[in-house]
Amino acid sequence: MLHVSSPSPLAQEVQAGLAKMPKRLSSRFFYDAEGSRIFQEIMHSPEYYLTRSEFEILETYKANLLRMFTQSEHRSFDLVELGAGDGLKTKILLGFFVDQRVDFAYAPIDISADALDGLIADVSEQWPHLQLKPQHDDYFNSLQQLSANAKSRRIVLFLGSNIGNFTPDEALDFYRQLHDRLLPGDLVLTGFDLQKHPAVIHAAYNDQQGLTKAFNLNLLRRINRELDANFNLDAFDHYETYSPETGEARSYLVSQKQQVVSIGALDLIVSFQEGEIIHTEISRKFTRSQIEQLATQAGFTLNGWFMDSKGYFADVVFTRN
Ligand code: AVI
Repeated sequence: MLHVSSPSPLAQEVQAGLAKMPKRLSSRFFYDAEGSRIFQEIMHSPEYYLTRSEFEILETYKANLLRMFTQSEHRSFDLVELGAGDGLKTKILLGFFVDQRVDFAYAPIDISADALDGLIADVSEQWPHLQLKPQHDDYFNSLQQLSANAKSRRIVLFLGSNIGNFTPDEALDFYRQLHDRLLPGDLVLTGFDLQKHPAVIHAAYNDQQGLTKAFNLNLLRRINRELDANFNLDAFDHYETYSPETGEARSYLVSQKQQVVSIGALDLIVSFQEGEIIHTEISRKFTRSQIEQLATQAGFTLNGWFMDSKGYFADVVFTRN
């Protein structure tokens, strides 16, 4: 029997994205092992305030959050984390909940098997009695894994401004899908990066050490490796814009010369003009009224709003209506 293997998601993305005008590739393909490693470094960089802000919020308001998670008749819950990564911020909550003898299970979901294995090893060593339900998956797909009739209350964590990497339509669709899979009274805790002085935001995606540049270029390295391509990384640059009018930070790769790239696995030759861009990422920054509108449109009620001391970032609780 003849087996024709279907193209990988990356192959499909490259085929379709590099045929577009302007060219584009989705940031969801940033996270191979090297991309995940560089992202960890970005989170520790001085300019990338998002992680520190969210850390401060979770540390300051962990008791308030626990009260919301266990209020009224709810005694136990499943803490489902979409895009858990190394779970560094979540461990603030896990440690506190274990200390308070809360009855809960932790269900981290991540696209990176390495990150998930590391997280599970770490969490089970620190809290051997904590019940774990890990899942290796893309969080776009993982929504489908959330069954519509769970026994325990579900608290879904979507931290780190991952929501900012969706277009407005994708974000609304994401909460609508969550709405359909959750039950009334279930909660979603989302980390939103807020609009602020544009220079602060621009610097976060244009750091001095060149980490964001390396992160962006790594996508081309991944395509070289996985799709037998010959992108010359030295012939592409990183360029970042932030528009305070739209609240969108955008990352681009810029071709530094006229060049031709071959992508062996796709039998494809792609030409670039000098200065031509590939759009690779959108990182949206929100206002409170946009967040309230998102909740309402998707069938949730916003009933918890926690900010860091600078007012840069908010962790927001939505209750499923
Ligand atoms: C994962 N995500 C929320 C990050 C962001 O801020 O959009 C990814 C990132 N891109 C560049 N720096 C960090």
